[in-house]
Amino acid sequence: MTTTNLEPYWMPFTANRAFKKAPRVLHSAQGHYYTDADGRTLLDGFSGLWTTGLGHCHPKIVAAVQAQVATLDYAMAFQMGHNKAFELAERIIAIAPPEFTRVFFTNSGSEAADTALKMSIAYHRARGEGNRTRLIGRERGYHGVNFGGMSVGGMTANRKVFSPVMIPGVDHIRHTHSLGDMAFSKGQPTWGTHLADDLERLVTLHDASNIAALIVEPVAGSAGVLVPPVGYLDRLRETCDKHGILLIFDEVITAFGRIGAAFGAQRLGVTPDIITVAKGLTNGVIPMGAVLVKESVYQALTNCPENLIELFHGYTYSGHPVAAAAGLATLQCYDDEATFVQVRNIEGVFETLLHELKAEPHVVDIRNFGLMGGIELTSRVGSAGARGTEAYLRCFAEGVVIRNTGDIIALSPFFNSTEDELIRIIDTVRRALRAID
Ligand SMILES: Cc1ncc(COP(=O)(O)O)c(C=O)c1O
Repeated sequence: MTTTNLEPYWMPFTANRAFKKAPRVLHSAQGHYYTDADGRTLLDGFSGLWTTGLGHCHPKIVAAVQAQVATLDYAMAFQMGHNKAFELAERIIAIAPPEFTRVFFTNSGSEAADTALKMSIAYHRARGEGNRTRLIGRERGYHGVNFGGMSVGGMTANRKVFSPVMIPGVDHIRHTHSLGDMAFSKGQPTWGTHLADDLERLVTLHDASNIAALIVEPVAGSAGVLVPPVGYLDRLRETCDKHGILLIFDEVITAFGRIGAAFGAQRLGVTPDIITVAKGLTNGVIPMGAVLVKESVYQALTNCPENLIELFHGYTYSGHPVAAAAGLATLQCYDDEATFVQVRNIEGVFETLLHELKAEPHVVDIRNFGLMGGIELTSRVGSAGARGTEAYLRCFAEGVVIRNTGDIIALSPFFNSTEDELIRIIDTVRRALRAID
């Protein structure tokens, strides 16, 4: 039991008062397990927060961070550089789709999203199309919590309170989920390609000459694992091309192995113009995000006299040396451990086990892609979200960490999970579902 005063820390995306009455405090982590403040061992079924696919406290990443912090703890980020950031950018580009040539570093996924949105607007202006400022997101999308990402995001709870102060000139295409048409699809649903045509509706409404970019997650994570229908992303790409709209893939979850490739763009066979990443870039060890752009985007944005700053944007901690060292070690591990192949090798087992929950109480849909899994429950009348939270708490009590978004349970197992671990996670969820009313 912790004796620490829990009150001063206002925890993010947490029911603070309920939490502090019954805290779940983690003390250490190793490999696939946390140890909590009571000394209990917990199997992490969520890989951190979609972050830590290689496992906790990976010795090679820990060593790289320790060495870096003792060598160059910080380096002024503006008008100066250090080798680790340059090396990391080069390593990222080496595994990105071939058109991508430049990397801008941020500290989080939220900052990456806002950076990408700002770049899109600046890109069109630099090309003489300064009217193209409108940004299009998607219902149920999640692009972090800063003003830009929140505005293009489409999760009601995150938007509700801030509705009057969203950035102007934003619209949303409809989301891709339909229980009646695609429930219990394994991998990509075969129904729903036509949902991409909603972008044409917005082009007709606003006119393409006003639209800068469309931002979507290739597979929506935070809203409860919404997998794109077959052909859907291709159609978005075609429509963006037709109308000169930049396509941004927010790959904060899908990049670096989660769906069995370095980038979701590669796995899904659709190449956007800008990609945002974070989480798996450093295995969650040190905060870091990044925005990757195609050479054509970079060239347009840097078309000014050489001595001028091309983009008035950046963070004190952009390309932070310790984060960059963590990133380099992480990418090396992905390579050494053939992580992306490893994911493809176990995703089938994960899919089979996950879908075995179909007949369990309350379950109305199961969705999966790569090592992302979603189990949607019917809501209890009058208390939406209660079942999901109870399932989460029951799993925690049984020593397994999962996550719920309302009544959708999400699973994000380690890239190197064993079959026994996957079975334990699924069995624990099964018992939780049977136990709740
Ligand atoms: C797709 C996507 N974009 C952006 C973010 C925000 O990232 P961060 O919490 O690092 O700001 C997340 C976080 O889950 C995400 O899933």
